[in-house]
Amino acid sequence: MNDKKIVFSGIQPSGNLHIGNYLGAIQRWVDNQDAYDSIFCIVDLHAITVPQDAEELRTQTRKLAGLLLACGIDPDRSVLFIQSHVTAHAELAWILNCVTPVNWLERMTQYKQKAAKQKSVSTGLLDYPVLQAADILLYDADLVPVGEDQRQHVELTRDIARRFNHLHSETFVLPEALIAKAGARIMGLDNPTSKMSKSTDTRYHGIGLLDDPDDIRATVRRAVTDSGRDIVFSADPEKAGVNNLLTIYQVFTGQSSQEIEDHFAGKGYGDLKTEVAEAAIEGLRPIQQRYNKLAEDPATIDKLLEAGAEEARRRSTPTLKRVKEHVGFIIPDS
Ligand code: AMP
Ligand code: TRP
Repeated sequence: MNDKKIVFSGIQPSGNLHIGNYLGAIQRWVDNQDAYDSIFCIVDLHAITVPQDAEELRTQTRKLAGLLLACGIDPDRSVLFIQSHVTAHAELAWILNCVTPVNWLERMTQYKQKAAKQKSVSTGLLDYPVLQAADILLYDADLVPVGEDQRQHVELTRDIARRFNHLHSETFVLPEALIAKAGARIMGLDNPTSKMSKSTDTRYHGIGLLDDPDDIRATVRRAVTDSGRDIVFSADPEKAGVNNLLTIYQVFTGQSSQEIEDHFAGKGYGDLKTEVAEAAIEGLRPIQQRYNKLAEDPATIDKLLEAGAEEARRRSTPTLKRVKEHVGFIIPDS
């Protein structure tokens, strides 16, 4: 046994991963693999809360697994698995449904936003945060590293856990959200006032982790800047575009703000864009090389995921058993 804190996080296999996901979330998961006992889950059950094409979902799930491995999630140090491979998630979600008031779910911001975009809203979409609570509570997770938008779901997880512990007996650990301090919030290149996101149809919005060098150069060349000429980090909304480019440069090169401003002193926005594009291309190259190698051998990825699922089953089975006992189910011998 070790006394490291348990970390759990999930990511949906929908849309293409971009540098915002990498710099804001995945890189942190990777860097903290030694500090925490980490469990990462590809949440396909969550993905189907909105319509998905079956083949596309399968493709995206494999691709996400390959990308997470290529980014440095190390199956020897962390558990990586696909949610639908571990039936305890759906089972615990059902039991938690029975202690979760509907009005707690109806007031979730993400539900309201997503429901507004659907013609017909599934029960699953409303129930999404209960499944997320099941994910987290099954592993007695202490910490949940997520973006700011997920804070409400982690709070709800605590509320559900507290209510279950109160209605039955003490069963669940109350988890805490681990939200990165300001910094790596990467903005859209075509619109530096909105966050870079997976779900956008505009061509020059983001940089995908698998984008080829010419696409990256084309996107960065079109990035919105301003009519000035100062290449400095700045909180001024006018300079949001330049600030975003400098932030991207910084996270890829690891240089200090001062070094970067000195480096660009006297240069123009054209030079800035060229160098940012090259820094991103260089930063992504090893990830892309590892991904391409892994993608040649999907059987190995499937094997790693199966081993991850096995470990996830081993770790979640006692929790589910504890829950069933506390609820009053008869536990079969086998
Ligand atoms: P999503 O793309 O919403 O599924 O988010 C997956 C993870 O990436 C979450 O932990 C987000 O907080 C993080 N993330 C998404 N977009 C950005 C961004 N533009 N900048 C930094 N982090 C992001
Ligand atoms: N809802 C999360 C998102 O959209 C994904 C997720 C599912 C998750 N289950 C989780 C995140 C458990 C953290 C913990 O980003």
